[in-house]
Amino acid sequence: MDARQMKIKAAEAALDYVEDGMRLGIGTGSTAEEFVRLLAEKVATGFRIQGVPTSERTARLCLELGVPLKSLDELPELDLTVDGADEVDRKLRLIKGGGGALLREKIVAAASARMVVIADESKVVDVLGAFKLPIEINPFGQIATRIAIEKAASRLGLAGDITIRASGDGPFMTDGGHLILDASFGRIPDAEALAAELNAIPGVVEHGLFIGMSSLAIIAGPEGARVLMAA
Ligand code: 5RP
Repeated sequence: MDARQMKIKAAEAALDYVEDGMRLGIGTGSTAEEFVRLLAEKVATGFRIQGVPTSERTARLCLELGVPLKSLDELPELDLTVDGADEVDRKLRLIKGGGGALLREKIVAAASARMVVIADESKVVDVLGAFKLPIEINPFGQIATRIAIEKAASRLGLAGDITIRASGDGPFMTDGGHLILDASFGRIPDAEALAAELNAIPGVVEHGLFIGMSSLAIIAGPEGARVLMAA
């Protein structure tokens, strides 16, 4: 089974959690896109959901495939969000934001009664942090914000390059008009403490640590999909 097939397996299994009539948050990234494709097939047979996309990219795919969409303002309380992740640990703490959609992803997940993560085995880790932590920042005062992040990380014994994400010749801009810093901390033994430090920095709009947001992850490997519950 190749990487794409594993993403499809995880996405297929997530469909079991989607019930007719649900208000559904729809994630961003290549795994979430497989979910959108499968969901669109079900919608075409008369299955009714109302989707709230976590990015413009996901919105475009949903519109193209006929998945009905609402804004989060129209549907501020959701039944379920299905989304991918860049890393998942045994307590279902996540790193997200590889696709640059972490702010809307977190807002949508927080508005959902439940978040189901879909990923392949390569995303499961013992300790978060091998994947560079995306941190969404306001462009104003970006150097001051980066220095504040370095100091906060250092208080927790963390260090590593923090680089501004690029796109083409310029910086990557999020759907909200912000920048992304990718922080190479290597290992984040205390994700809660780092999240609290980052939350306290005014220029940080949001960070890619999703803690206590997901109750269940569907992890696909060569043998098929398995369910991971928080340890
Ligand atoms: C986007 C995300 C994605 O869920 C994450 O990057 C995983 O993407 P993929 O399924 O393509 O590996 O957080 O901001």
